[in-house]
This record gives sequence, C-alpha cells and structure tokens, in this order.
Amino acid sequence: MLLEPFVARSLRLANRIVMAPMTRSRAVQSNTPNALMAEYYAQRADAGLIVTEGTSPSPNGLGYARIPGLYNSAQVRGWRLVTDAVHARGGRIVLQLMHTGRVTHVANLPAGAQVVGPSAAVCPGQMYTDAHGLQPHSAPRAMTDADIAHAIDEYAQSARLAIEAGFDGIELHAANGYLIEQFLNANVNQRSDAWGGSPAGRNRFALEVARATAQAIGAERVGIRLSPYGVFNATGAFADVDAQYGALAVELSALGLLYLHVLDHSATGAPPVPAAMKAGLRRAFDGPFILAGGFDFASAETALREKQADLIAFARAYLANPDLVQRMRDGAPLNSPDPATFYTPGPKGYTDYPVVSAVAS
Ligand SMILES: Cc1cc2nc3c(=O)[nH]c(=O)nc-3n(C[C@H](O)[C@H](O)[C@H](O)COP(=O)(O)O)c2cc1C
Repeated sequence: MLLEPFVARSLRLANRIVMAPMTRSRAVQSNTPNALMAEYYAQRADAGLIVTEGTSPSPNGLGYARIPGLYNSAQVRGWRLVTDAVHARGGRIVLQLMHTGRVTHVANLPAGAQVVGPSAAVCPGQMYTDAHGLQPHSAPRAMTDADIAHAIDEYAQSARLAIEAGFDGIELHAANGYLIEQFLNANVNQRSDAWGGSPAGRNRFALEVARATAQAIGAERVGIRLSPYGVFNATGAFADVDAQYGALAVELSALGLLYLHVLDHSATGAPPVPAAMKAGLRRAFDGPFILAGGFDFASAETALREKQADLIAFARAYLANPDLVQRMRDGAPLNSPDPATFYTPGPKGYTDYPVVSAVAS
C-alpha cells in the first residue's frame, strides 16, 4: 500500500511515503536556501511528498543556527532552486513553516530580531550557537496583541511567498514545542487573556494562523503538524490535552486543510500518543491523515492496512537513504543515519549518502 499513489486534495502523490520535515542547518548565508539544499531535496524527490525542514516566516523565528527563512526575495529565489529541482524529478514538495518562538538564542538571530513567546518563561535547556557553542535559551518577551497579530501576518505573508517560490503548499509546524505549540501547551502558555487560560484560548493562535494562511493561499494548500504528548522543549502532556486537541482537530477540519500530520515521539523515549487519541484525531479531521515517528516499511504497511493513516512520514530513514522508495520496493537494507552530521554545514552527511546502485558497484 505504501507504494501506491494517493490523491491528497489538490495533490497527486506517486506513493504514500512522506519525507518528514528535518532541520539540516545548511542555509549558511543569511538563512537563505542554496544549490546544495536543492541537490539534497532533488535526491529525495521519489517521495510521494517532501515536507521541507522547518523554515521561519520571520526573522524572530530563526532560533537555530543556519536554518532557512522565507520572508524576503533572496529566500524566494533560493527556495525556487529547490522546488524547481524537485519538480523536475516529478516530486511534490511543501514548505514547513516553523517559528521557533522562545526556543532560541539571540546569537542565532539576525540584527533587530526579537525573542518572543506566549509568556515570559525561559525555555529550560540549551541552544547551540556557532559563535559561543551551547548556551541557555534567551529570555522571551510575552507577546502583546499587536505582536500576535504581526506574527499571524508573517505566517500568511510567508505562505504567499511559498507559492511564489513554487511550493505545492505549506505545513504549519504546530509540534515539537515551537511557537504554535507554545500557545497550545498549558505547561508553556501561562496567559490569562483570550490567547490562553482555557483549551479554546490555547487553540486560538493555531487556528488563527491556519485561517490566515488558508485565506492567503487556499486551505487545500495548508497542512498542519501536531505532536501531543511530546516532551521536546519543555512541553509535555497536561490536563485535558486529549479534549483540547480533539476540539482543535474538529476546527481544523472545518477549515478544509490539506492534511493533518501527527507525530508520536515514543520511538525516542517520550510517552506515546494514546492509540485512542490518534484514532480520535483521524476521525475528527475530514481529510488526509499522516502519521510519523519510528516507522519502518513493515510497521508503515500495517498502519496503512489498518487504516490508521493515509500517508506515513519517515525522517531518519529518509535522511540516510535518498533512494528510500526504491529500497522499500526492493527490500534493500538501509544506510544508517550519522547524527554527528545532522546539523553541520556542507555536503558531508547531507548529499553523500550512497544509493543502492552506488552501493552495489
Ligand atoms: C535531524 C532531524 C531534524 C528534524 N527537524 C524537524 C523539523 O524541522 N521539523 C519537524 O517537524 N520535525 C523535525 N524532526 C522530527 C522528524 O520530522 C520526525 O518526526 C522524527 O525524527 C521521528 O521520525 P523518524 O522516527 O522517522 O525519524 C527532525 C528530526 C531529525 C532526525
């Protein structure tokens, strides 16, 4: 089933394999995509759908070193290299919009950018910077109503630029403890105004961003990724998390979004997303449903056969196997990913993973 085609709203996908979003920190010049990144994505264009690495819609959201943005014309030109290269190989590609919010360090931000989040609480843990190595996260300023309106606008504008750059759509990163999940998560969002304080208040930012981007480029081109029960960046489960996300999925469904993408971090040690919650989210969202987290070929086939999802996303396997689709078709063994080069600049551990024919020769 994994290798069968699938129609997702406006998208005709050659198979049900999704390349999951992965930050790779190769945008070495001014957070702008480049030819090396185009080569990396083109190598993986056999995926039914590629979701790019997290990309900031704002200078304020560039929390990690060397991640790309999409808010100026140079970045549009850079991303155009990527979309053209993927489309030339018959692939489909959506841009993941990731605003890092409080998960940041000022040394990673361009001049004039600000550290913002729903609340003023500093994210526990450390952030890598090229200039000073690991540093505690920088202290965020609690966003005002004007800051929130501005951020929503930045997402909508970036969505427009994504279409200008040739993307087939966007994915809103509402997972892994970045800005949208910072609003969703009761352990992070300490607001008592209309942007927090209740399940509906905490869901509001995600929904307003979804609405604004859908209005900008069409709902059928806006997907969204959630990771309830994830613990990354000091999030974690909270009282009534199932009910809150259930209500969110109902409202996202009403907007007619491209897809709902749910990431379960249990393969890397976090508590699992309860099976009943996944099934509930799938029922609540009337549209394509993607599952991610710890899949191999056999477990992906099982999940599709059991109708747990329409599409399955693979991250680390895709990182290390540009020809993952062919390897799955042939039952070929997989290369192992090298964590030491996940985020280092240059082609090593990026565009030099061997393909099967190269392995055999
Ligand atoms: C190097 C690396 C970078 C990642 N960056 C992102 C990211 O930018 N956005 C995101 O939503 N998830 C990101 N993830 C999470 C993956 O998309 C994926 O959900 C996770 O690795 C579990 O899938 P897997 O078991 O197939 O690797 C990243 C994972 C890895 C390994």
